[in-house]
Amino acid sequence: MKLNFAENIAFYETGDGSNTLINKVTNETYHSKHGAVQESMHVFIKTGLDFVLGNRHRPLKILEVGFGTGLNALLTADYNCVEPFVYHALEPFLVPLDMISNTNYTRYLNQKHLKDYLVAQYKKQTELELNPMTLYLGNCEVKIFNTRLEEFETDLKYDLIYYDAFSRHSQQEMWEGETIEKIVSLLAPGGVFVTYSVTGNLKRAIRDLGLVVERLTGAPGKREMLRAIKPSL
Ligand SMILES: C[S@@+](CC[C@H](N)C(=O)[O-])C[C@H]1O[C@@H](n2cnc3c(N)ncnc32)[C@H](O)[C@@H]1O
Repeated sequence: MKLNFAENIAFYETGDGSNTLINKVTNETYHSKHGAVQESMHVFIKTGLDFVLGNRHRPLKILEVGFGTGLNALLTADYNCVEPFVYHALEPFLVPLDMISNTNYTRYLNQKHLKDYLVAQYKKQTELELNPMTLYLGNCEVKIFNTRLEEFETDLKYDLIYYDAFSRHSQQEMWEGETIEKIVSLLAPGGVFVTYSVTGNLKRAIRDLGLVVERLTGAPGKREMLRAIKPSL
């Protein structure tokens, strides 16, 4: 499966001034149109990462579904660059280097982390087909797996999952059935799942798998978001 980035993907300036990408065929953006950086900070960093810091095993293990531009990984490293953590991200359609380097994220991010990220991307695209690609952002090891969640295999269980799939509107299969069962099975006991989307079906599916579900205030422009916690053993 290949995505033609030059033809199908364009930049889109969001409400907080930060760019995201838009798929011109599905009209789906990679982040909220109200603010890309604002949404990532609210949903994944403040409601996810900040919540688990301080009460989890070390190193903290994080899984992101839908790596996209890498914004969530970079914001995570910037927020928590003192403590080491393991960050695994899944992405079947790796965004090309020229698109990543032309986002205007420089204004919002640690310059050293951004440079390390771009150099690693450059190596991947010019030297080897590395899968997973590993990069180091400060103390943090980030591995990007060029795969779909459905095919991802690991023995690890994660303390924190950033679920950043495209919306139900364009990828319904990501929000129900076996896909939700799979992502919940990858959470460690006590682990935390966060996502920008809340629907009745998603809440029910996650509750039925034994998690405690919270509906919290969403990023600006969205009424709600979801955080769910897997009970400790
Ligand atoms: C909403 S965007 C994520 C934006 C990203 N977190 C960022 O900061 O740029 C959704 C991402 O999920 C990826 N995706 C699509 N199908 C997927 C699948 N089956 N498993 C994992 N990721 C998938 C898309 O290619 C896209 O990059």
